[in-house]
Amino acid sequence: MKILVINGVNLNMLGKREPEMYGKLSLLDLENSIKSLDFKADIEFFQSNSEEDIIHKIHSQKELKYDFGVFNFGAHTHTNIAIRDAILSVNFRFYEVHISNVFAREEFRHVSFFSDIAEGSIVGFGFDGYEYAIRKILKGE
Ligand code: DQA
Repeated sequence: MKILVINGVNLNMLGKREPEMYGKLSLLDLENSIKSLDFKADIEFFQSNSEEDIIHKIHSQKELKYDFGVFNFGAHTHTNIAIRDAILSVNFRFYEVHISNVFAREEFRHVSFFSDIAEGSIVGFGFDGYEYAIRKILKGE
């Protein structure tokens, strides 16, 4: 099972940005905690603040044949049609994850351009959301 975890814009700032919202741990801490769980899967982590790089990564599904994605596009979640179209262009199956409970925040965060094309969405469970998404993928349902 080949899984691609994408963290989008500003998620490289985890641990530094709004710690009361996103916690004190860094993106590297998140990646290491997933790695330490020793899932029987090939899990690749990718972070970028660039829409273009994220789109190229998603298009690489054609050659690299990821079975599933776990995607947190940060603020692009609420605005980005181009990333949505990239996912549709390669039929990428994925779970959407948000660290914070976006529904308990500003109204503009209640809209996601990805929820309706995701297998499911996990919001407000902090870093654990990534783990839950991977467990669900590996259950194979
Ligand atoms: C986020 C929620 C988004 O609204 C915000 O722009 C982020 C992080 C989350 O993981 O809670 O950058 O995707």
